[in-house]
Amino acid sequence: MFSIPRLSKKIWPETLFNWVYLREQRKTIVSLSSLSETHQMLQRTCRDFAEGELKPIATKTDQEHLFPKKQIKQMGELGLMAVCIPEEVGGTGLDCMSYALAAEEISRCCAATGTIMAVHNIYLNAINNFGNKKQKEEFIRPFTSGENIGSFSLSEPGLGSDAGSVTTKAIKKDSLYYLSGTKSWTTNGLESKAAVVFASTEPSKKHKGISAFLVKKSFPGFVVGKRENKLGIRGSSTCNFIFEDCPVHEENVLGELGKGFNYAMMILDSGRIGIAAQACGIAQASLELAVDYAKKRSAFGAPISKMQSIQNKIADMALRLESARLLTWRAASLKDMDKPYTKEAAMAKLAASETATFNAHQCIQILGGMGYVTDMPAERYYRDARITEIYEGTSEIQRVVIAANILREYEL
Ligand code: CAA
Repeated sequence: MFSIPRLSKKIWPETLFNWVYLREQRKTIVSLSSLSETHQMLQRTCRDFAEGELKPIATKTDQEHLFPKKQIKQMGELGLMAVCIPEEVGGTGLDCMSYALAAEEISRCCAATGTIMAVHNIYLNAINNFGNKKQKEEFIRPFTSGENIGSFSLSEPGLGSDAGSVTTKAIKKDSLYYLSGTKSWTTNGLESKAAVVFASTEPSKKHKGISAFLVKKSFPGFVVGKRENKLGIRGSSTCNFIFEDCPVHEENVLGELGKGFNYAMMILDSGRIGIAAQACGIAQASLELAVDYAKKRSAFGAPISKMQSIQNKIADMALRLESARLLTWRAASLKDMDKPYTKEAAMAKLAASETATFNAHQCIQILGGMGYVTDMPAERYYRDARITEIYEGTSEIQRVVIAANILREYEL
């Protein structure tokens, strides 16, 4: 059993993990482009955990579509299932930079586990940002230990990128809203005990009629539909949610009525930092595997790492990865400083997801036939990387977000 203590400012020695110190260090991260000592320690802890507990099970998790229940529980004990949630409601109380570092390390060894962690943290962040005290007690506290999983249900079969066109309806009768409709692409759909679900209370108002609801799986009329058979991240489930007059008490409306779309956008901004970090993890794993193989594999009488064509690939992989990681850290640091970060999160996700695909592609190329078979993890990296360009906003949507912000910045 893994024995590193929970990542908490209470348990770690004051000199090593002092929160005030950490907060002061944040300001220097962007300019120095390096990590504080405390962040480095957190990174090391997550790496040790992922190497010891996730790497050995990653292939089986992928091939057998297994939810890594035991490892998720261990991550809960470490504090990784509620990284940015305040300690008052059972969270770890760390910053977004810590979250990005943790997400990268977890995904470096098992991207599917990284997905489970990322979407669970999105669920918690939504409630932490917009929920009231009672909702936090009910929907956050029991969800911080890795025992219970949450999900975030925005997309529908007819809409993905056009998130403002939600058709699932929430009709009010007395103190209950009755939800009807089908949500799709919900990560953690199978295992989650509760979900933040977006439905329209006033369809005529389009995106301004969308509200967010806290819905438990146990509510009548809430059915988990089809589980998707995916190309990658197969240890995480992706499901349809079907609502048939599912009664949800008005106390379970998250935040203000009609603000659901804005909440979703804000939560996706921070979620995109997590996916960027996940993509960096896959890109890092691809680079490491490629370098290791290139040094060991000989052709024409020498290790292939001596060939310039291989060196060019390695240089490009490392360059893209470093760039994407710095963008990810910049977005995380801006968030931690309470500065706007929508554009930077979109840039980070775009750069990192395209880097993950690029690095995994080049990794297979360097490994040749060994990259194409399941004896080595390169083909898994390639399959896992692909989703990072799609979920939490496609690369095309990230460009829309970046361009809209740039054009606004240049307005006279
Ligand atoms: N933060 C806060 N508010 C925001 C915002 C942001 N980042 N972006 C937009 N808004 C607000 C606007 O200010 C505007 O507010 P008002 O109406 O009050 O003026 C409102 O939202 C509408 O803005 P837009 O006109 O820009 O919205 P749009 O309809 O043109 O859509 C979009 C913009 C960027 C394309 C958006 O729809 C989008 O991000 N789409 C992608 C959705 C997505 O990422 N889906 C993934 C779902 S989760 C998932 O992947 C599954 C999983 O489990 C991992």
